[in-house]
Amino acid sequence: MERLDKILANSGYGSRKDVKKLIKSGLIEVDGKKVKSSNIQVDVKENNITVKGETLIYKKHIYLMMNKPAGVVSATFDNYDETVIDLLEEYHASFNPFPVGRLDKDTVGLLILTNDGDLNHKMISPKWHVNKVYYAEIDKVVDEEDIRAFEDGIEIDDGYKCMPAKLDILNVDSNGSRVMVTIQEGKFHQVKRMFLARNKKVVYLKRVSFGRIHLDESIKEGDYRELTEGELKQVLNSGGDSFTPSEF
Ligand code: URA
Repeated sequence: MERLDKILANSGYGSRKDVKKLIKSGLIEVDGKKVKSSNIQVDVKENNITVKGETLIYKKHIYLMMNKPAGVVSATFDNYDETVIDLLEEYHASFNPFPVGRLDKDTVGLLILTNDGDLNHKMISPKWHVNKVYYAEIDKVVDEEDIRAFEDGIEIDDGYKCMPAKLDILNVDSNGSRVMVTIQEGKFHQVKRMFLARNKKVVYLKRVSFGRIHLDESIKEGDYRELTEGELKQVLNSGGDSFTPSEF
């Protein structure tokens, strides 16, 4: 059971305030009866809700792809910093989405936001081995030894031995290196700490994919869109993308 005004707001009929007006104006019926109260509880599976005579098709979950900008925290609330939720329009925020896993404040790129707890669990649980791919700029020369160390599993500062990770070197010059890193875990500052264990510093970090979802590069930093039906099918049916190091 959910409040009628929340259901309507989640279905694109405006803010809670707009929806209250809509209900007051007598345009909403539940099982053929006009309702005038916003706070009645309705079961979207059992009750038939109509708006101006048309049956409401209820969407319970929302799935967003954001190109996270730097300077914004991946949280639903923060006392000091702007959060990724602050970047959402009221309609999308009304679903109460949360970020699937976290990116550091200075990390940019792909962030999925949803209110689907099951999907969240599936994508962040190490059990499902979901690949996260990052583009990183490193202050020093990255070499074959680093690739092997990543493959073997890097021991980070707290003594934790990371799962095998894949490191691809894109190019190296006197300013440092550009690389792609694929990890399956999501420990706090993981990529940065893996490079620190090799005495190297990540100076720029951007997530480009998460499981089967790739960042749509046409989304500007700070913008977002809903996942397409195709993308949604990919995440909902993938069951995580189990891989072994040899499949990197
Ligand atoms: N690894 C990091 O160090 N930071 C991130 O934001 C994501 C992965």
